[in-house]
Amino acid sequence: MTQDEMKRLAAEAALDYVEGGLVGVGTGSTVNHFIDFLAKIKNKIEGAVSSSEASTQRMEALGIRVFDLNEVGDLSLYVDGADESNHHLELIKGGGGALTREKIVAAASDKFVCIADGSKLVEVMGRFPLPVEVIPMARSYVARELVKLGGTPVWRQGLVTDNGNVILDVEGLAIHQPRELEQLINNIPGVVTVGLFALRGADVLILGTAAGARRLEPV
Ligand code: A5P
Repeated sequence: MTQDEMKRLAAEAALDYVEGGLVGVGTGSTVNHFIDFLAKIKNKIEGAVSSSEASTQRMEALGIRVFDLNEVGDLSLYVDGADESNHHLELIKGGGGALTREKIVAAASDKFVCIADGSKLVEVMGRFPLPVEVIPMARSYVARELVKLGGTPVWRQGLVTDNGNVILDVEGLAIHQPRELEQLINNIPGVVTVGLFALRGADVLILGTAAGARRLEPV
């Protein structure tokens, strides 16, 4: 089974959590499969709140109504992918650059269902470079601060986020205390959001594997 087929399997299994109303929808190739499945039951839901321009475009093209988060209250469900998850369902996200809006929609949702292929589950996060969204004028300053934390920041050149900012991908971290690191990095002036989702991690992780969709809850 290919990695993409595993992503699709996880995405399909997340439909079990859709109970109507408004669904928070993340970003990425796994979520794209979820959007395609969601379109098939679009008459059963009121619509979606999106975490990126890319997901908004895909949903609108498939006839799913997209609402601004400011027009709606809290959401019952958020479905999104991840770049890495540990067994506590603390995550690294932002490989697609949508981390800030993803963190906002996750925070406004009661339940966060994370969908991923089996390769995303790790013992210690950090092999995947940790994305940090930064105000452009603060790029070099924030990079120097990230070096002090033991990482090697690499500017994702050519990428401007949906919010008009830049991304630094921090290599070389072994993240043993994700909650502490999330707070530390978020407190650097100029940082908009770090792609660590530990303070608000996932409630359920659905992994697509060759043996089927596997559901995990935080240990
Ligand atoms: C987008 O910014 C990310 O947080 C994605 O959720 C993450 O990169 C997972 O992407 P894939 O589903 O494409 O692996």
